[in-house]
Amino acid sequence: SNNNNSIDERLLAICKVLEEHIDYYNWVGFYFRNGDKEELLLGPYVGEPTDHTVIPFGKGICGQVAVSNENFVVPDVSAQDNYIACSITVKAEIVIPIFVNGKNIGQIDIDSNTPDPFTEADERFLEFVCSQVSNILE
Ligand code: SME
Repeated sequence: SNNNNSIDERLLAICKVLEEHIDYYNWVGFYFRNGDKEELLLGPYVGEPTDHTVIPFGKGICGQVAVSNENFVVPDVSAQDNYIACSITVKAEIVIPIFVNGKNIGQIDIDSNTPDPFTEADERFLEFVCSQVSNILE
């Protein structure tokens, strides 16, 4: 699709419903690959504004998922050495990649103020959310 305004509205609505209905989802946002560059750009999100609107591949949890193509569940962000802090209230993070036609084109990123809150059920649920986002984008 070429209707980016509509896509961003739909992605923002997904962020809102997740943040509102799941108490340990405290910051919910999307990052997408910037064309052919090896960097991510912040897309629609809800929660505290972040300075990290551009993240190079490999940097932080998000940048690592851009390279690994795999889910990254972080029960305790303070135990990570390659981590970009957006807020001192964040205790845990989960990042799930989004694939379009087999290519890793971005990710959903969720921060939690609760320590170690994410289970395999969150991974399966967010993989489903990402597959629906993939359908919106392709
Ligand atoms: N913590 C992330 C950076 C993005 S903020 O969580 C919004 C990371 O380490 O990649």
